[in-house]
Amino acid sequence: MPRFVGALDTGTTSTRFIIFDDEGTPYATHQIEFAQSYPFAGWHEQNPIEIIESSHACINGAVEQFVAKGYKASDIEAIGITNQRETTVVWDSVTGKPLYNAIAWPDTRTSRLVHAFKEKPGAEKLFDLCGLPLSTYPSAMKLVWLLQNIPAVADAQKAGTLMFGTVDTWLVYNLTGRDKFVTDSTNASRTMFLNINTLTYDDFLIDFFGVRGIQFPELICSSDDTAFGKVAAGANALAGTPICSCLGDQSAALVGQKAFSVGEGKNTYGTGLFLLYNTGHSPVFSKNGLLTTVAYNFKGHKPVYALEGSIAVGGSAVKFLRDNLKLISDSDEIGRLASKVPDAGGVVFVTAFSGLFAPYWIDDAQGTIYGITNFTTREHIARATIEATCYQTRAVLDAMQKDSGYDLKTLKVDGGMSNSDVCMQIQSDIIGINVVRPSYRETTALGAAIAAGIAVGIWKGVDDLERVNKKGETTFTPTITEKKKEKMYHLWERAVEKCRGWVE
Ligand code: G3P
Repeated sequence: MPRFVGALDTGTTSTRFIIFDDEGTPYATHQIEFAQSYPFAGWHEQNPIEIIESSHACINGAVEQFVAKGYKASDIEAIGITNQRETTVVWDSVTGKPLYNAIAWPDTRTSRLVHAFKEKPGAEKLFDLCGLPLSTYPSAMKLVWLLQNIPAVADAQKAGTLMFGTVDTWLVYNLTGRDKFVTDSTNASRTMFLNINTLTYDDFLIDFFGVRGIQFPELICSSDDTAFGKVAAGANALAGTPICSCLGDQSAALVGQKAFSVGEGKNTYGTGLFLLYNTGHSPVFSKNGLLTTVAYNFKGHKPVYALEGSIAVGGSAVKFLRDNLKLISDSDEIGRLASKVPDAGGVVFVTAFSGLFAPYWIDDAQGTIYGITNFTTREHIARATIEATCYQTRAVLDAMQKDSGYDLKTLKVDGGMSNSDVCMQIQSDIIGINVVRPSYRETTALGAAIAAGIAVGIWKGVDDLERVNKKGETTFTPTITEKKKEKMYHLWERAVEKCRGWVE
């Protein structure tokens, strides 16, 4: 009989629970979308209670399917967790209740605060300490905003009952019935409170952001058989099952793609796009707009680092065409439309809905469509939307090349938009290298399952994953000339320059 492990994947817009066997084959899946709230321009919130409720419901739904296939819930040996990163939750340690909505990672309400903090003495030291540029993206400024604007949060800080966490911490705290208040270093490395060299909380960073007196979660490894505790009695259908891994979703996707060697990378097309490049056991600090992050940190092994190119808008631009502009009726339609035209007809869509992240870090840019004429159709807009994600991937790859001196030969891809052949062909054309897509694309959940499975001995280690997800893969090869590729990219670069300084 196969051995089983479950993965709880709480992304930006939905939660899912997938039960895998020891070859990485999914046996049962349950997914629920949760609400996003945009109360003002640039604000993006989620209800922390809904995140927990959707997690229990997904676990129950998947276990029900699993049991219907003749297995028992107790056949699932461990649970792994993976989650949207940076999103900030605050709650009271006495009640265990949230004190405000979760502020989601793309939220830009802190852009003024960021400007003010950039002027503070010591701001120049931050990047070398935590590997992240001061921006609206990491958790730190979100927590500062909550302290300055939400009285209940400030009161809890004074009373010493304020708990801070990213989504992983909030999940584990609730799943274990408030037994464990922990985070792993892949998630902690996205807050700006973690020293990226020592992987401990840094006093200078804590003081710089003025967040003393707050309870920060205990730092533990990403894969550990005991430290995350067990699902509490009565919580859901997996009560008593040990939680054995926790990784930020982009780290989990790197693990799920089995990119364990230095120089291996992957690009995940989710709500945003995140290209991670394994740099081994030492942090590498980018001079070209990339972030330094913890790739994974398994108990008993040295931590592994990555350079990261974070692109804020990917699948969310497709959602924007569907929900805001009503230009398409379902997400798949974007590929069908884009394939009807040979190019974007001179249209460039800079999808800077949260400013522009890596490698540009232009926080005063806003989404802008250039080059519209009477010739422009929705097919061109659809194609330009896909191209925007692909151009930003090219910009990140160029930055990685400059930082590492190494040309990536192929790009491993996964995530929602990677399901579109049209999108992946455009990607290959725009970067001029092969794009390789595995047959099973839920690599984020698979990565969390692998990390948990290693902790309980389902796999002996990262060298024992040969049999996992080894079915076929699809390769997309560039089809346009070098001249056309560079001409298109030049147009994109011009459009990006024009976007600067729009927000006053
Ligand atoms: O840093 C944000 C990232 O973790 C969100 O991932 O998959 O929800 O776009 P995703």
